[in-house]
Amino acid sequence: METTLKNGEKWYDTDGNVIHAHGGHMLYHEGWYYWYGENRNDNNYVACYRSKDLKTFEFRGNIITTDTPVEKIRVHTDRKLFTQNEDGSIQKVNLERPKVLYCEYTKKFVLWVHYENGQNYLDARCAIATSDYPDRDFTYHGSFNPFGSMARDCTLFLDDDGRAYFIAASRDNADLHIWRLTKDFMNTDKLVNVLWQGEYREAPALFKKDGKYYMLSSHCTGWAPNQGKWSCADSIDGEWELLQNFGDETTFRSQPAFVLPRDGKYIYFGDRWGGSEHYNDSTYIVLDIKFDSDGAPFIEYDENAAL
Ligand code: DGJ
Repeated sequence: METTLKNGEKWYDTDGNVIHAHGGHMLYHEGWYYWYGENRNDNNYVACYRSKDLKTFEFRGNIITTDTPVEKIRVHTDRKLFTQNEDGSIQKVNLERPKVLYCEYTKKFVLWVHYENGQNYLDARCAIATSDYPDRDFTYHGSFNPFGSMARDCTLFLDDDGRAYFIAASRDNADLHIWRLTKDFMNTDKLVNVLWQGEYREAPALFKKDGKYYMLSSHCTGWAPNQGKWSCADSIDGEWELLQNFGDETTFRSQPAFVLPRDGKYIYFGDRWGGSEHYNDSTYIVLDIKFDSDGAPFIEYDENAAL
């Protein structure tokens, strides 16, 4: 049965449950699209769904929860996934914007996510987890500040040469940092760029088209949507163009989550947030990115998701 997913409406998985994959990411692996995202319910952090047609989504499980096994790695990290209150109850941390890549070098699936302690947003760390599988058996390895820097809203980008990059809002969100990862994707190796000092860009999403790198991002206004921007560069560590508008003044009431390249198209996934009070009412909008005659990317609103 052909289903048409509507932008900004609740979407359901094949079990009939609401899809919670907020601030997410998709990984295409061996014929499946794996969709990872935030699920803040109960003791869950990161949910995983999979689909072949991007119209029906099968829930594969919550791959990071407070019960996820924790294992030390060579990188010095803080391995707390929750704190215990005096009355014995559990205080969850915040894990936001999870992204997963497959590392050809180690044959592992590596997850990076933005970590905060659950009480405030002052830790500004990244955290990592790994698995031999895309959709189960993840082990959490803890959180850290890359080279001592703050890292909040984040994304991962895998280049054609197998090198991966972690991009995150740093210096209290004022600048966006691009770190190249080590070969095993388990650590930041080198800060290769610092972008848009003082412009407070969040929600980075990268893609590559015809050898050029494109980045979408939002301004920094909490849960409220704002004017999206795009930029491009010939090399990831080179000069990025000045930011230009993407979508309308609220990016059609969304904030970038990721861009999915699919069959020669580039598909924008945005979060339409419910905010802290109505977080579970957050939905998704998915639009086809088009390019004008100068190569500038743009989106137009459509009530149907471009899937
Ligand atoms: C905007 C970020 O993009 C979200 O991931 C989340 O951190 C909210 N801010 C919290 O206000």
